Amino acid sequence: MNARDLKKFFVDFFISKDHAEIPSASLIPENDPSTLFVSAGIQPLVPYFLGTPHPYGKRLVNVQKCIRTGDIDEVGDCVHHTFFEMLGNWSLGDYFKTEMIPLSFEFLTQKLNIPVSKLAVSCFEGDADAPKDQETADIWQKLGISPQRIAFLPKKNNWWGPPGVTGPCGSDTEMFYWAATLSPPQVFDPSDSNWVEIWNDVLIQYFKNNSGVYEKLVQNNIDTGMGVERTLAVLNGLSDNYQTSIWQPIIKKIEEISGKKYGVIATPPLRGKQSPQSGKRNDVEIATSMTPRNDDIKSMRIIADHLRAAVFIIADSVEPSNKEAGYVLRRLIRRSIRHGKILGIEQNFCQDIAQTVLDNQENLAGFYPELDQNKNRILEVIGIEETKFRKTLNRGLIEINKLIIHKKNLSGKEAFNLYQSYGFPLELIEEELKKNGLSLDIVEFNQSKEDHAKQSQTLSAGKFKSGLADNSEIITKYHTATHLLHASLRKTLGDHVQQSGSNITSDRLRFDFSHTEKLNPDQLEKITNLINQQIKNKLIVTKEEKHFIDAQKEGALAFFGTKYPKIVTVYKIGDFSQEVCTGPHATNTGELGTFKIIKEESAGSGKRRIYAILK
Ligand code: ALA
Repeated sequence: MNARDLKKFFVDFFISKDHAEIPSASLIPENDPSTLFVSAGIQPLVPYFLGTPHPYGKRLVNVQKCIRTGDIDEVGDCVHHTFFEMLGNWSLGDYFKTEMIPLSFEFLTQKLNIPVSKLAVSCFEGDADAPKDQETADIWQKLGISPQRIAFLPKKNNWWGPPGVTGPCGSDTEMFYWAATLSPPQVFDPSDSNWVEIWNDVLIQYFKNNSGVYEKLVQNNIDTGMGVERTLAVLNGLSDNYQTSIWQPIIKKIEEISGKKYGVIATPPLRGKQSPQSGKRNDVEIATSMTPRNDDIKSMRIIADHLRAAVFIIADSVEPSNKEAGYVLRRLIRRSIRHGKILGIEQNFCQDIAQTVLDNQENLAGFYPELDQNKNRILEVIGIEETKFRKTLNRGLIEINKLIIHKKNLSGKEAFNLYQSYGFPLELIEEELKKNGLSLDIVEFNQSKEDHAKQSQTLSAGKFKSGLADNSEIITKYHTATHLLHASLRKTLGDHVQQSGSNITSDRLRFDFSHTEKLNPDQLEKITNLINQQIKNKLIVTKEEKHFIDAQKEGALAFFGTKYPKIVTVYKIGDFSQEVCTGPHATNTGELGTFKIIKEESAGSGKRRIYAILK
């Protein structure tokens, strides 16, 4: 079976059950600033779960293009992809579990011809938010799934959504396929990685609101998802997704250009808990007839994955840039070039790979007319970006290796200079260091970056006085006020609030954080009062050095996405806040004066910014 067959089987099956086929939505979400990319079929359909009638009716089916950027660093193993296709069907207040589960059973056993003996399912075990889903288990049992093959699991396994902070969600029932050649055991053990999740039926009954409460929706809905790449691999008896016909032409092209071999990889049937598109199967690879270097295989997978993703992103009108989706695109292309270098490819090659992605009609099967329509632009954008980056890369690599040759660690400042002067991406600097057993002092890097930004701001304002590091009393107070603000935002708005930027001058603090909606006057007042209360309470600020892991365990906030050194400093403000930080800080909140928010505004997609002063 190839990808076209699987997609057609799925869509035709649901059409035969009165579903309307809707085209894949763009990878770039419309009217949803909270995410950069669509990561599940339900995402563009959220408004229709909340009552807006869908123009195609109440039963829908499609193949949705998805991007999960959280998986970029995992790409290189057998199963992770940045871009993947998700098969899905939906009931918008129409049928519910008594109809959906038999449909899933019929598709799996009669269309994909999977024997019942190779199937197992999981259902929600219940908690304070929603009851145990015995009804779903009973339906599976009536269809012929033995009770021993039905597992009840908690929210972390059998609950899906909402796709953003708030939105439709519900318990789910997941279907697992026995992917090993050994005969399947009688009893389903969800921790046995030979059971591979292939389909998820989400029973959308709830709406998670801003306060984190699950409210019952007025209608019962269904949202399902089946990852094409993974399902195709397991149905073909492969544990390496890249060995399916989706990827093989691309891998072959990379082999041809690099002169390296992907190699024959044995397929030990060892798998683990997955997310719908891929997952964490035990990535055991045994080279057989040839012995390809693991690094080469990894680089080939990364190139194949990243350039396939890039093709689809450009087709949806994104250009490489330094922010948001454009930055992800730029990073995908740049990482491909970097991995091309690891394979010994020094000339431009990304266009050739993109062409191969576009040519793979057998798998694309006419689902994405935008690829054909934008063919020339896709190739052109990739070509221009590659030429531009190659120049940067060559200059930067020479500089890095000059520094590394002396076997000394690269200081954060030196790394920043490379980043700044050569446009050399941070992740590539880190990769290069890692290969040489070195690591980057990210705190110092960020400090240099911040200092540089401050310096440029000050310079451009024509106010450059002297020195960069400013540990004056007022700056110190603003540092502490920033921690109070961070903690107060989380206590008032929820734990989804994460610091995404901070900037302090002697006149004010500026704080960026993840949150989608504008803060209302009520919220702003609550936050301000909470902070001023902590100032009145004269809380003592303490400082302690500890292992980063311990700091995290104890709940200290850390800057999301930043790599910290092993030993970090944690600043505690009474029991109100604890954060990993380099300081310096006031010793007592009583010194701060009065805190006042002067402005609250958007700071880009899914982010808000607060300006505040101390009086
Ligand atoms: N939205 C569900 C998922 O992504 C189907 O698994």
